[in-house]
Amino acid sequence: MAGAYGGLAKPVRDYYEEITARIESNPELFMRFHSGPLSADVRERIAGFIGAEADECVLVTNATMAVTTIMKNFMWHAEDVIITLGTSYTSINTTAQSLHDIHPHPSHRVFQLNFPTTHAEIITSFRTFIQSLAKTTPDSDQDVKSGPTTGTGKIVAIIDSICSLPGVLLPWQEMVKTCAEYGVWSVLDAAHSLGQEPNINLTESRPDFWFSNAHKWLVSKRACAVMYVPRRNQHIIKTVLPTAHIYPGTLVQQCEWTGTIDWGLYLSVGAALDFRQWIGGEEKIFAYCHDLALRGSTRVAEILGTRTLDETPNRELTLNMADVILPISSSVPGSPEVALALKKKMIIDRKVSASSHYHNGKWMVRCCAQIYNEMEDFEKLGRLYLEACQEIEEQFRTAT
Ligand SMILES: Cc1ncc(COP(=O)(O)O)c(C=O)c1O
Repeated sequence: MAGAYGGLAKPVRDYYEEITARIESNPELFMRFHSGPLSADVRERIAGFIGAEADECVLVTNATMAVTTIMKNFMWHAEDVIITLGTSYTSINTTAQSLHDIHPHPSHRVFQLNFPTTHAEIITSFRTFIQSLAKTTPDSDQDVKSGPTTGTGKIVAIIDSICSLPGVLLPWQEMVKTCAEYGVWSVLDAAHSLGQEPNINLTESRPDFWFSNAHKWLVSKRACAVMYVPRRNQHIIKTVLPTAHIYPGTLVQQCEWTGTIDWGLYLSVGAALDFRQWIGGEEKIFAYCHDLALRGSTRVAEILGTRTLDETPNRELTLNMADVILPISSSVPGSPEVALALKKKMIIDRKVSASSHYHNGKWMVRCCAQIYNEMEDFEKLGRLYLEACQEIEEQFRTAT
């Protein structure tokens, strides 16, 4: 039930093995003549998938590479502000922190998110947060962010589309609109979106930057991600990382050769799209996984005697990942030692993969419904977590 690193579908794996054999049969021919047209075809297909143009989408190794590329390409000043979320993934926060740590020290502000909450509450509190930083009147010209819009410096917000832990869908389209209104750059960490979130249309929702892993939910070979930079913002990316053979050049030209790579990883995205069509198409995949996430997490909560994190009436926080509160009392600390012990008990001892974590004073487990999962997996997960939580309770309970 893996959201973290995905799981490779057999036909995609077969494709990867075939393409690897083809590359190895004549690497010189493949690298010099075939990799370009084949990857252009993949970009074209993935662009159609996310409502973008092919020359706005490039393939990179992973989400961390994408966010680093975007954030390191901004020209920073001491008055600038980088916003991350309380739920941001570790490497998003460390990227912001590292930029803050080097001269000229843009500041780093965190928008706190504590679940359970609702989309309406998030939209309102995010707006208030942005308003408090962006002191000037809203900027209605969404294409122009050339000058300071805060009265001081620029603001760049890195926003999750779907948070990692807990695995929660954010009202990111509304948050992007708020950013645009106040002249704040929106960088969308959509690491979990490709293959999980239905009907992505980036031309309509207009984030300033967007990136998503393809190996988590789209079932491509690990590691591959898509980075979207709309034409209006491509001037910001002066160099991709690592700096390419073609420099200066368009975004796509620069990504043609960023050093020798395993093209099989990137090309497996095409095989993943084929596989998804073959198995029933996006609508059916989403309907199956979403329904399983809702019912499966409810069942896990029943087995554990707890509740799901998302208790909104129509479970608006849930796509295909759903967190369930673990039966671990408040006398067990939310410490890294407990986190590691839980991981060992589940991944090593019980061979179960579902991320447990501590959020807002509670231990919880993120249940992911991938296309290869069934209700039985959720029931097993519940039973095994129940055992592990009892052990954790005995091992770590502190005297109160
Ligand atoms: C929300 C989010 N952002 C970024 C990342 C980083 O992805 P990667 O390790 O592929 O760079 C992850 C990884 O799980 C994630 O969940």
